Amino acid sequence: MCGIIGYVGKRDAAEILINGLSQLEYRGYDSAGLVTLSTDGLHIRRAVGRVRQLQQLVTEKPVPGTIGVAHTRWATHGRPSEMNAHPHLDAQGRIAIVHNGIIENHATIREFLEQQGIEFQSETDTESLAQLIGFLYSQTGDLLGSVRRALHDVQGTFGLVVVSLDAPQTLIAARRGSPLIVGIGDGEYVISSDASAIITHTSQVAYLDDNEIVTIDPSGMHVATIDAMPVDKRVHTLEMRLEQIELAGYEHHMLKEIFEQPETLQNAMRGRLNLRTNEVVLAGLQQLERDLPRCRRVLLFGCGTAWHAALVGEYLIEELARIPTDVDYASELRYRNPIVEEGTLAIAISQSGETADTLAALREVKTKGATALGVVNVVGSTIAREAQAGVYLHVGPEIGVASTKAFTAQVAVLSMLAVYLGRRRHLSNERTESMLRELEQIPAKVRAALGVHDQVRDLARQLAEWDNWLYLGRGVNYPLALEGALKLKEISYIHAEGLPAAEMKHGPIAMIDPGMPVVVIAPRDNTYGKILSNIEEVRSREGRVFAIATEPDRELERLCEEVVYVPATSAMLSPLVTSVPLQLLAYETAIVRGHDVDKPRNLAKSVTVE
Ligand code: G6P
Repeated sequence: MCGIIGYVGKRDAAEILINGLSQLEYRGYDSAGLVTLSTDGLHIRRAVGRVRQLQQLVTEKPVPGTIGVAHTRWATHGRPSEMNAHPHLDAQGRIAIVHNGIIENHATIREFLEQQGIEFQSETDTESLAQLIGFLYSQTGDLLGSVRRALHDVQGTFGLVVVSLDAPQTLIAARRGSPLIVGIGDGEYVISSDASAIITHTSQVAYLDDNEIVTIDPSGMHVATIDAMPVDKRVHTLEMRLEQIELAGYEHHMLKEIFEQPETLQNAMRGRLNLRTNEVVLAGLQQLERDLPRCRRVLLFGCGTAWHAALVGEYLIEELARIPTDVDYASELRYRNPIVEEGTLAIAISQSGETADTLAALREVKTKGATALGVVNVVGSTIAREAQAGVYLHVGPEIGVASTKAFTAQVAVLSMLAVYLGRRRHLSNERTESMLRELEQIPAKVRAALGVHDQVRDLARQLAEWDNWLYLGRGVNYPLALEGALKLKEISYIHAEGLPAAEMKHGPIAMIDPGMPVVVIAPRDNTYGKILSNIEEVRSREGRVFAIATEPDRELERLCEEVVYVPATSAMLSPLVTSVPLQLLAYETAIVRGHDVDKPRNLAKSVTVE
């Protein structure tokens, strides 16, 4: 989704801004723009399409200055066009802003300002904020005061950076509901919505909280609330390493991240499996150690892939901890007026820790008295900070828009959480030990599963021409059918549906014909016999079946056009291994179709609007 980068210091701003925008590209966007300030005035360039198009404009007509802000836009109000791209200006053309989020009362503000004779240039909600700041400034001559006042008047969300010709060495930034991080360098500051654009310059950062404004001027950085109460900001050190956001010889971040999984799963479990004492150690939950096992109900929520991980978590927690568990889309939960009884343990699952719906759902369940945990990847993200406690994924930055390594780590963390809760309730010593041993072997099994890459590449070449696919799974692999279908949709733009295998006969079976590949996840578990029957049902209708299985089986091979084998593991943990061929199949199919895997159309990595 939209990305922001701002710079003030001694170096040429344009180069830093363009490089910063390139680091933000993975978030998804459709246009880009920047502004720098120099003694000659404001220098603005805007382009539809990729950052390289903007870079081209800057090369043809350079923008001087050592201060500026830049933006990648993901259209919400107004189509992607040069006029709608940020930065947006006030009527005098002296103040420029870039903005992430949505100004909900933009129409009212616009109407008011138009009555004052102000002419708007774009269709965006952001321009109403730029014009409002400019209008207030024209009356008071106080820039910071005008930003404050405007932010009081707007409804909605913002991560915002303001520059003005009348304060040519000052950046003003504010946040409500849309992240902003200030990187503190040597005599320079970099401000961004995403740490990946900061790490090249400095690892020292301050995270803005909601309703805070930061002013960066030659005297330093000053943080206050929108109501002008000073705030003492802690400086944090980013844990991210530069090489984590580079391609390291892979063609795409998604492929790199798929292949990183043996290591990322190891990192997600490091120090957390204690085979000596036969327990799971989750340091992030220590403060709640007494309360958690007493919980009466678990509520898991998230969006997209995180929601699929939550569905796997439901099977795991119910089976291993025997606690009734519900799963909800965060976007539905937040508006449902959820019932939160005493003893509810609510768990927000989010890679980015910034997804607007997941954050709002977390706040809602917290208000209602749930114990609220976060299972989050991005350290220091808003959900991580607002949850009462939590477990980090520790998989490093995930750049590929289609989530892979974060998904498997979410499942690994939920598996550990299930054992953690289970051990403090009904889980036997023996079962705990066998789960811990199985978990320990998962990285090696995932490494072995990656060996199917060549086979899956060939399979993708056969299948890529089909426009409708079905994915089937049962039990803990039913969410994997959903996730396999989602991966395919996200990057191949092929229509795909995931179903619990037995449910197919209640309607979707009508669609089965030789033109629709059916991918069946069929590990050897207690439903294996049933899934063979489901495959027979597909075959009887001339459907073409491709299976992912764990143990060589003649019968399965007879029924299927192709079987991809991955290592067997305990039934409850099989999604960690069956994920691999599904991820590779989506990736290779998208490659055959010629799509830009890391920048799929219309998608955003982190969805910070509801
Ligand atoms: C977006 C991404 C998905 C992701 C979802 C939730 O839609 O494109 O890949 O699963 O958001 O993101 P989160 O950061 O909360 O896990």
